[in-house]
Amino acid sequence: MCGIVGYIGNREVFPILLKGLKRLEYRGYDSAGIAILNGDLHVYKKAGKVSDLEKHIADSDVTSTIGIGHTRWATHGAPNDENAHPHLSQSGNLTIIHNGIIENYASIKTELKGRGYTFHSDTDTEVLINLIEEIKKQEKCTLEDAVRIALNQVIGAYAIVVMDKNNPNQLIAARKGSPLVLGIGEKEFFIASDASPIVEYTKNVVYLDDQEYAVINRTGDFYIKTLGNVEKSPAIQKLEMSIEAIEKGGFEHFMLKEIYEQPKVIADSLRGRMSAVEGWIKLGGLDEYINRINNAHRIIITACGTSWHSGLIGEYLIEELARVNVEVEYASEFRYRNPIINSSDVVLAISQSGETADTLAAIELAKERQALIYGICNVIGSSIARVSHAGSYTHAGPEIGVASTKAFSTQVSILILIALQIAKHKGTIANSKLREILYELENIPKKVEKALALDEQVKEIAAIYKDAPNFLYLGRGLNFPVALEGALKLKEISYIHAEGYPAAEMKHGPIALIDEAMPVVFLATNQSAYEKIISNIQEVKARKGKVIAIVNEGDTEIKEIADHVIEVPATEEILSPLVTIVPLQLLSYHIAVMRGANVDQPRNLAKSVTVE
Ligand code: F6R
Repeated sequence: MCGIVGYIGNREVFPILLKGLKRLEYRGYDSAGIAILNGDLHVYKKAGKVSDLEKHIADSDVTSTIGIGHTRWATHGAPNDENAHPHLSQSGNLTIIHNGIIENYASIKTELKGRGYTFHSDTDTEVLINLIEEIKKQEKCTLEDAVRIALNQVIGAYAIVVMDKNNPNQLIAARKGSPLVLGIGEKEFFIASDASPIVEYTKNVVYLDDQEYAVINRTGDFYIKTLGNVEKSPAIQKLEMSIEAIEKGGFEHFMLKEIYEQPKVIADSLRGRMSAVEGWIKLGGLDEYINRINNAHRIIITACGTSWHSGLIGEYLIEELARVNVEVEYASEFRYRNPIINSSDVVLAISQSGETADTLAAIELAKERQALIYGICNVIGSSIARVSHAGSYTHAGPEIGVASTKAFSTQVSILILIALQIAKHKGTIANSKLREILYELENIPKKVEKALALDEQVKEIAAIYKDAPNFLYLGRGLNFPVALEGALKLKEISYIHAEGYPAAEMKHGPIALIDEAMPVVFLATNQSAYEKIISNIQEVKARKGKVIAIVNEGDTEIKEIADHVIEVPATEEILSPLVTIVPLQLLSYHIAVMRGANVDQPRNLAKSVTVE
């Protein structure tokens, strides 16, 4: 939610900021802006995409070696030029970029208005920079002190960078609840919401912790302090990200690239964590707590959106294989409903970004009540990864398309390993069955590759149904969450209304929607409920619905009744979501492209939802 980038050093700042904003644009894209300092503070900002900002700036002199940039996902105030960041203070001496929400901004604004401040935007951010300015004036203190005092007065979440017209040799950055990475070069520093704007310049980074700020100087020295004014020794880490991972690599969109990366990233998520030949599974994080997890009264899976869908698959897997009671909770509901939870519970928190505000809050609540927290995150060093007691990274690599694809598959892979590891430890799975599944799991990347080879066929089907106003997705068992995920993918990138339902539930209401204009996507690969799914397909056909069925290779029965069949490689039923999701991702992708939608940056969405 909003991307921020800053630089101080010897290079020209503008190309660094612009490239950084383009890389961060997945976080928010309703307006963008930069501020540079060369004698005076020059702020350029524009509603729209980073490319609109680029055009807006085209003829300006942006020569400078210090500056900040922002790409916004609106919270306070409409996405227009005035509300775009950076914001200037009243005197014009200070400027700020901000990711997050200052909850008590209204009362501070009233007080500042009483002191003669006027505001040019509707944002909480403009309030914060004026609060800093007022403190600096009242206390006659340094900018650093003013920032620290101000941040101790505000309630909410933020990652900020502040630049002072009168000090071209320093930037101050702080975080609470929103991510911030400091890149350390040779007498130069980079600051960003994630490492993507930094990786091509330096591999040395420090992830700021909550309630910490960094003061960085052109001379090459920097320090990090807590908001309590205590200096901390910085933990410098090496970035593992590569530039190729954050570029499109010849694909038209990041989403397509990420769909195609799935065979590789599934293999990455399994590597070193299992061996079929030797019959072992070992998730480092799980191993350490295996006894506590084995004795857990229940496992609660909490997440949002696509991660919640993978959580539903986790519920089926863990209950089926390990015979432990599992509940799946929307983090946004769980955190507010005073759940019954205690030290005998284990919470699995799933999050691609590791920054989702509701998931983080759900974790805090469960932690307060002594539950064990196991994080399943993609982004290394993210907040959820850090607050969890233990966890596993999914190793999907940077996911830049706003619609989650490869993150989902790797989350499911990890959940399969978790279910199997608990099952093995509890003795709820026979060794022979375990081996069979592990062998098949090793084969899964190849089967996902085969599913990707169906792309052309899926594209043809997309062309037929691209103008449908509604879609239904139906599946049973493990394919029900896949149906939900397929419907979400279509909704979010093509803006077609789509619903996912358990196939048998259709009779209890949604069947009323079916007529000759309704495409119904059936996930029909389940061996265990095959006859039942056929009955459900018949029910739709009897009402003239159009059936697109995802079936196992060689299926002949469904071919007879469905309008279209997409044949995916058969696999162990518990692994099937990894294969059946692929045509659904491709279907939504092609429909969105054909409708002219912005696939990688769908309207109103942002990649990581760091606000409630
Ligand atoms: C959908 C999508 C969102 C995220 C959700 C949770 O394609 O991307 O629904 O899954 O916002 O995000 P994370 O996994 O980062 O917590």
